[in-house]
Amino acid sequence: MNQDITEIQVTGETSYTVTVGRGVLERVPEALGDRVSKILIVHTPTVGRVASELRDALGARYDQVLLAEVPDAESAKRIEVAAFCWQIMGQADFTRTDAVIGLGGGAVTDLAGFVAATWLRGVRLINIPTSVLGMVDAAVGGKTGLNTAEGKNLVGAFYAPAAVICDLDLLATLPRNELLAGFAEVAKCGFIAEPEILDLIEANVAVATDPSTPEFKRLIELAIGVKVRVVSEDFKEGGLREILNYGHTLGHAIEHAERYQWRHGVAISIGMMYAAELGRLAGALSDEAVDRHRRVLTLLTLPLNYPGGRWQSLLAAMQRDKKARAGMLRFIVLDEIGKPRVLAGVDESMLQFAYQEIAN
Ligand code: GLY
Repeated sequence: MNQDITEIQVTGETSYTVTVGRGVLERVPEALGDRVSKILIVHTPTVGRVASELRDALGARYDQVLLAEVPDAESAKRIEVAAFCWQIMGQADFTRTDAVIGLGGGAVTDLAGFVAATWLRGVRLINIPTSVLGMVDAAVGGKTGLNTAEGKNLVGAFYAPAAVICDLDLLATLPRNELLAGFAEVAKCGFIAEPEILDLIEANVAVATDPSTPEFKRLIELAIGVKVRVVSEDFKEGGLREILNYGHTLGHAIEHAERYQWRHGVAISIGMMYAAELGRLAGALSDEAVDRHRRVLTLLTLPLNYPGGRWQSLLAAMQRDKKARAGMLRFIVLDEIGKPRVLAGVDESMLQFAYQEIAN
């Protein structure tokens, strides 16, 4: 096997390979398998050139390869956009042995996954994430979904891809701020399970966040490894998978407060800093570990603070969050780096006290 290509195996309720490397799009036919004859590539305008090249490369082997260009980011995750994809598939007589490829960031793979899950009750899905966030989080694990007027990801299905192909060459032109925002999810994996990630970022952040370096590849693999281990054990979020929500309870409330104009990772960075303060107040996380959060997130130029006057509206948004169960807020906190647990039913005064630590 090519030394530069890494294969990470998802097991358990679902089974597929996540391939990480450079120039690995040539593996798409292998991932599609022998029975496919028609393919729909769902992509954003940003990766239009890659989508056309992929269509041309696959065109020689398959009966029909069609493109569905969908809006960037969250605007893709609408029922009208899914209906646009279904229409293309219907007009081209897609059958159950045909396939969907999701090519783009996290929103596109969420949409493409939903389209694949629902067409004829499920066709083959290949995810080709083109952002850091997509590679280490959205494309792996089988969460698919759409937003509604009432909130994010309220409609969806757990539907595993047949393969995930992470071509690091696709990140070369990613805007720097988007790449660094994606690193919030990489750092998250470091905090909850894989301290080597934190070591690599602290050792040399410029090298760690340069997509051309071996250190970058190692970081992406380590973060995917965390996600793969978790979803292999708990595909449908019955328990363990909840640790992936580290920093997300407050982070989602901030995204809501910012009308979803902030990048996900930027809000999650503040959410992780808050969770670290909460972990310290809850009694277990050391000052040193909290400082490590501050150091790593600062190296990634991610924010740590949010305005003090916003607490009541953030609290209200968290209480509405779908992760609040039976009216009780739930947070993932750490007892130490790599040791996450659920913290539920916390006194509001403690929640507010933790917020004061990050308020500016
Ligand atoms: N993004 C969190 C999860 O996949 O469960």
